[in-house]
Amino acid sequence: MPQETPRPTQVDHPDRNLALDLVRATEAAAIRAVPFIGRGDKNAVDAAAVDAMRAFLGTVDFDGVVVIGEGEKDQAPMLYNGERVGNGRGPACDVAVDPVDGTALAAAGRLNALSVIAVADRGSMLDASSVFYMDKLVTGPEGVGVVDVRRPIGENIRALAQAKGKPVQAVQVAILDRPRHEDLVRQIREAGAGTRLLLDGDVAGGINAAREDSRIDMCVGIGGSPEGVVTACAVKALGGVIQTRLAPRDDAERQRGTDAGLDMDRVYEADDLVASDNTFFVATGVTDGGLVDGVRERGSTIRTESVVLRARSGTVRRIVADHLTEKWL
Ligand code: FBP
Repeated sequence: MPQETPRPTQVDHPDRNLALDLVRATEAAAIRAVPFIGRGDKNAVDAAAVDAMRAFLGTVDFDGVVVIGEGEKDQAPMLYNGERVGNGRGPACDVAVDPVDGTALAAAGRLNALSVIAVADRGSMLDASSVFYMDKLVTGPEGVGVVDVRRPIGENIRALAQAKGKPVQAVQVAILDRPRHEDLVRQIREAGAGTRLLLDGDVAGGINAAREDSRIDMCVGIGGSPEGVVTACAVKALGGVIQTRLAPRDDAERQRGTDAGLDMDRVYEADDLVASDNTFFVATGVTDGGLVDGVRERGSTIRTESVVLRARSGTVRRIVADHLTEKWL
């Protein structure tokens, strides 16, 4: 009888997890932001994080181009769109950085600020920079084929509750606390679900909706377009749903988006936001949050907590690191 050839396992053919190198850059950004937490200066938080992230990215074996960064070169001295990062040796990649998602949170000393990097094969990330906002719907794997951003929120809540085998009253929906969401918040509550209003930071909101072991079932509403692409890199590893529609603020922005080749009526799903299945996502807590703990100063050491996701293997890692304080602050 012919012997069945055994399927090669990860142990037979281990390949490199780029995100395990990248996590040093988000750790560095988070640690360097610490002196500015609660000092009321958003720019100082961002500048410290950007500086540290850039220095560490330079040590990583990859040939990265920042697709989603801090803006255009003349407005952002570092990590601007189009900047080359990495040491140039290794895979050619698109890079999305958010040195601090929730700079206002960190500056105010509030919860849920994160340092984030997402990476995917070169040419695979959607450049949605011409339209600032997207309307988003994110859920975990139970939402696949069940929810649809085109449908009323109440229907999606009921369908997801059924797919998850829980009562509608137990469904929690994360949404940015903004006047533009007043009506959506009312509809969520009328459907019987609860809201988790986010002051800022819908990347963490989206990941919490997609991952297991979180009390959030769904993240909806209008947030930044770059954050949508970053969240898609994470959702690809977690196996959930992300559906987005561009939300131009006025006709001029709509036109700029159209001129850049974007379609205002299209529903952009995970594969449209990032075409590659080879995505990496890393996030380190700056301040404490539902996803990870923030940076802790503990005398001679500084503790960071990070999540590291890789789509190709579906691996979800949590990395707690103790760094020698004398080397950092
Ligand atoms: P930054 O801290 O990177 O500026 O982003 C914070 C954030 O809350 C994002 O998470 C979210 O997508 C976006 O801003 C929402 O924009 P706005 O504050 O204009 O509603």
